[in-house]
Order: sequence, then structure tokens, then C-alpha cells
Amino acid sequence: MAKKIKIGTLISGGGTNLQAIIDSCADGRVDAQIMFTGSDVPGVKGLERAQKVGIDTFVVDYSQIIKRVKEDLSGSNVTNNMSPMILPEDFNLEEIRAKQHLINKDKGVERIDFFLKSRAVAEQKLLDHIRPYKIDLLVLAGFMRTLTPYFIDRINTVPGKFKIMNIHPALLPAFPGTDGYGDTFRYGCKVGGCTVHYIDYGEDTGPIIGQRAFQIEDGDTLELVKQKGLALEWQLYPECIQKFAQGLV
Ligand code: GAR
Repeated sequence: MAKKIKIGTLISGGGTNLQAIIDSCADGRVDAQIMFTGSDVPGVKGLERAQKVGIDTFVVDYSQIIKRVKEDLSGSNVTNNMSPMILPEDFNLEEIRAKQHLINKDKGVERIDFFLKSRAVAEQKLLDHIRPYKIDLLVLAGFMRTLTPYFIDRINTVPGKFKIMNIHPALLPAFPGTDGYGDTFRYGCKVGGCTVHYIDYGEDTGPIIGQRAFQIEDGDTLELVKQKGLALEWQLYPECIQKFAQGLV
């Protein structure tokens, strides 16, 4: 029997990709064991899917954290007697600002710094959950938060070796961002698709591992486009994870 790699999963929602990965690990198509499922949103269906098969779960509530950091910076938590959110001890704003490609510099340094600080608070909590599992690969399965260099550098600890995989609902480099199928459909594309890629410092810019495409016929609705795309995602993602497990990517 092939040696199994240890993978962790992060989600934000329904977790149909997570389910496809759970199923393919269970039936031996993927030589991996899922160690945990984390979510940035409490109460989502994907957490239930994991719990049902005995996978550890946790939540890092990004919305709450971002709200608290905003209140800290405006001073309203002091008047409310709330303890401030603490930045990680090893957080170096200048270093991370120089590395990041998530927010364009023309948005202004204040906005960039708020983004990087609030995400680092959340990302430290993610890392606290993730580190004890000593995973080989982190799989983003519908995780709708961008990860900053603070987090990425603490997962990708071996230079040149990517350890975070993502699935994106478009044929990258077209249509990065949060609504790949919607953007593909509204543009009027005749072909849509999905992409599995590694995470780097940009938004959906990392090296591509695999892609699948489908035809968009006249009269297809956005709903149908999403259905066609998801059906391909459920095949493609396990295949790419298996390639990683075999040391092929
Ligand atoms: C999937 O379509 C995935 O490609 C997309 O979210 C959906 C999650 O569905 N991911 C992104 O847009 C990442 N930026 P699921 O929760 O049913 O797996």
C-alpha cells in the first residue's frame, strides 16, 4: 500500500469539493489522510461533512476578528473595556508589505496595512490550529479568504517547495477573484473551466497544476455553468492531490 500523505483542508461554505476529497481518500484514489477541516465561517455545511466522518474541525471567525481589529484601531474597544487583538510577535509589517501582491499600491498604505494586520491576527490563529498536525499539504477547498505572505511563509518553509493548493472556478489566468464562473458567464465566454494551482503571494497567480474545460452552450444559465464547472472540480482536485502525493507536482 502506498504511503499516505497528511493533508489539511480549509473551507468557507458547502464543501462539495471537500466531500469529493473525503470520498477519494476513502476509496483509495488519493493516498492521503485528511487531518482537519478549518473554516473562516462558523456553522457551514462543509464542517458537518467533515465531522460526519470523524475529521477534526475548527473555526477561525475572520469577520469577527476583522471587526475587532477595526475597533481597536479606531479606539472604540478601549472605551468598551475590550482587550485589544494582539499582532503576532513575529509579524514584520514592512517585510510583508514588500512581498504582498494582493492589494495594489494605489489603494494607499493605510488600507494595505489594515488588511495585512487584520489578516495576520486571523492567520496566527489558523497557524495555531494547523501546526500540531504536521501536514504535508494544505488544501483550500472553497476557502474564500486570501492568504498573506505572513501565513504562506510559515507553511512553505522549504524554499521553492509549494505546500498550499487551491481550486479556482475559472481557466486562470482569466478571471481571478471571488466569482470565476459568474465572471466567465457575464463576459460571454463559450468555454469555461476550473484550475488547480499552488498559492503564491498574488491572488490566484501561483503555478498551475491542472485544468479542465467545458463548453458553454447558447441558452446556458449561470446556474448550469456552475453545475458543469463543479462536476469537473470534483474530478480534477483529487487527481491533483494524488499527483502531489506521488511526488509528480
Ligand atoms: C468552488 O466552485 C470553488 O472553485 C470556489 O468556491 C466553490 C466552493 O464550492 N473557490 C473559489 O472561488 C476560491 N477563490 P464548495 O464549497 O461546494 O466546494
